[in-house]
Amino acid sequence: MPDTTNPANSPYRPSILVTGATGNLGREIVDRLQAHGARVRCLVRDQAGPRPGVEWVVGDLTDPSTVHEALIGIDAVFLIWPLLDSAAAHDLLAELATAAPRVIYLSSTAINDEAARQSDPIVQVHADMEALLHDAGLRPVVLRSDTLASNTRGWVQQVRAGDVVSAPEAARTAVVDERDVADATVAVLLTRHDQLDDGPHMLTGPEVLSRADQVTHLGAALRRDLRFQALPADLARTRMLADGRPEPLVEALITASEWRPDSHRVTDHVERLAGHPAGTFARWAIDHAAEFN
Ligand SMILES: NC(=O)c1ccc[n+]([C@@H]2O[C@H](COP(=O)([O-])OP(=O)(O)OC[C@H]3O[C@@H](n4cnc5c(N)ncnc54)[C@H](OP(=O)(O)O)[C@@H]3O)[C@@H](O)[C@H]2O)c1
Repeated sequence: MPDTTNPANSPYRPSILVTGATGNLGREIVDRLQAHGARVRCLVRDQAGPRPGVEWVVGDLTDPSTVHEALIGIDAVFLIWPLLDSAAAHDLLAELATAAPRVIYLSSTAINDEAARQSDPIVQVHADMEALLHDAGLRPVVLRSDTLASNTRGWVQQVRAGDVVSAPEAARTAVVDERDVADATVAVLLTRHDQLDDGPHMLTGPEVLSRADQVTHLGAALRRDLRFQALPADLARTRMLADGRPEPLVEALITASEWRPDSHRVTDHVERLAGHPAGTFARWAIDHAAEFN
């Protein structure tokens, strides 16, 4: 494995398109690319753009004309696919195949490479996207991420309102700090393609955690006695629909809750790519405690 740990010293200076730049992970990636003085462009849906000082193109991953414009002059793309169906990706893939940038795709560690079908629609779409990217001849570098610590931001309102976080149960996994995934991603983006292993690189945190464990760590960071309450599927479905979440997403989340198996995989791939070990969820909770007050 080459030394990818010091991208700032590399003479390689690609123009990088970041998708999902307003999201939990994308924001961290854009911050780091800017700090490295990289040439960054973001594909964003909101006319207001991602933040001052960053070039952006208003567009949508499902609208090929906007993606076409966004790809002009781009050497590398950080690609996410936040939709539940890969069908709408065909036009995007055609644009990518024509422009032929390096593609770094953010996938999921929950993919079971031995299975004909994945456990739930969210994992299935990542498996489909990996296959489509390979079939299009794009030779993507695949970064498979474990559950992002930042998902717990979805509990902010509950933590502010009381001491119980209720949600559907979820598979135990080695929850990974999105800042570590961003460090690994940026190291890959700033490394020449011929020096990189296409992966899949399995980006995990250092310990396997349940949702109850995560709530306990949040409570410790906040010096409060927080508890997790697992919601049965019917009640979880009713609540998520009442919160205004789209029905297909709700069904995908319920299916994931019921069928995604626990994972005991813990890797050192964050360290291999980013040059430092993956941080703990306890650390994430301390660093983000103020958001939950
Ligand atoms: N969260 C996890 O545990 C996890 C684990 C493995 C892989 N992943 C992958 O990582 C991705 C990023 O995760 P995250 O937590 O950072 O997500 P997030 O905070 O929900 O952000 C999603 C991003 O996608 C953008 N987006 C949504 N639909 C779009 C569209 N049609 N066209 C263009 N942009 C669109 C959103 O832009 P707007 O601001 O316009 O809404 C936002 O920037 C996920 O989508 C998933 O594919 C996540």
